[in-house]
Amino acid sequence: MVTLADPLALGDIQLANRIIMAPLTRMRSQQPGNIPHALNATYYVQRAGAGLIITEATQISQQGQGYPGTPGIHSREQVEGWAQVTRAVHEKGGKIFLQLWHVGRISHSSHQPDGRPPVAPSAIKPTGKVMTAHWKQADYEMPRALELTDIDSILNDYRHACENAKQAGFDGVEVHGANGYLLDQFLQDGSNTRTDRYGGSIENRARLLLEVVDSAIHVWGSGRVGVRLSPYGTFNDMSDSDPIALFTYVLQELSRRGIAYVHVIEPRATAAGGGDTLNSNAPSSSQLFRRHFNGPFISAGGYTPETAQAALAAGQADAIAFGRLYISNPDLAERIIAGAPLNAYHRATFYGGAEKGYTDYPFYTGNGT
Ligand SMILES: Cc1cc2nc3c(=O)[nH]c(=O)nc-3n(C[C@H](O)[C@H](O)[C@H](O)COP(=O)(O)O)c2cc1C
Repeated sequence: MVTLADPLALGDIQLANRIIMAPLTRMRSQQPGNIPHALNATYYVQRAGAGLIITEATQISQQGQGYPGTPGIHSREQVEGWAQVTRAVHEKGGKIFLQLWHVGRISHSSHQPDGRPPVAPSAIKPTGKVMTAHWKQADYEMPRALELTDIDSILNDYRHACENAKQAGFDGVEVHGANGYLLDQFLQDGSNTRTDRYGGSIENRARLLLEVVDSAIHVWGSGRVGVRLSPYGTFNDMSDSDPIALFTYVLQELSRRGIAYVHVIEPRATAAGGGDTLNSNAPSSSQLFRRHFNGPFISAGGYTPETAQAALAAGQADAIAFGRLYISNPDLAERIIAGAPLNAYHRATFYGGAEKGYTDYPFYTGNGT
């Protein structure tokens, strides 16, 4: 029987175990400049026992930022900051992929380089609230529908970010195609009503994601590129009229490209960073979509060590990513493998701040902590 403690070949990378640290936005980069710094390196090094660390979502450009304090991978200082992180993780024997992010319409003019409204496939405003560059809640502004030339610039930004990630010493990149950010906004027809080659048919809506993936493969090789998706996700006001057809097509196209892995968030945990309730009536992505991707399948969303082990044993996934439990357990992989108890997480310190709730969760000592 496959266990969480077993090694796994993920594209060109060998993982020591199948316990993955999910990407987790923590909004603690150094200001000004959104630069990863020593505190972030400490946090990631503490978690180097994961089979693979996937970093917090990292903006590929200033236009791609949507929350205060999130790190970027577009300036020289950011590349140097990330290089500190990757060096330290590698010294501990860990593996680390960078999650590449453009938020699209989930932004505010205060984050934008030119103070203009955020960009999106179509001028459709999401419901809910956005967080400004000054940590204030505000109403969303009507986004600006991207022109074809703007899309070319975004593709350039992705390529540049991939090159920067390589310079910074990552083991690979994960393209963030999930949770209602730019690439997901293009995929799903609730946010994409374009009539050009990036809208309408499923092939057209999937075009930008696949172009970004091809660009990442060009820089990294297919064995070091992963993609994250959230079929049936409703976070950030997402919807699609036919998720089965859409995500079947996307997974088949990714399969053809032989990428390192796909990473799928189970719809039961669609609230992403926003809440703790699981929807037990939600469809199962691993059941619906796994067979369309011929390669390693990482599943995330609402797993406990027990349900994660059961999912591996049932062949529903090759590895399991843990989000909230990795926030509160720096040694989560070691604890799971040892059968040790887990620390509870504290939602109030998820986003922003410094050490508290970030690097001060205790390691297991064998004394019941
Ligand atoms: C604080 C927080 C930040 C998150 N940030 C990201 C992110 O940057 N990128 C991403 O793809 N998902 C993000 N997520 C979603 C998680 O990766 C994961 O899919 C979700 O928490 C469900 O898994 P869990 O039940 O193991 O926590 C975030 C979730 C939380 C709680």
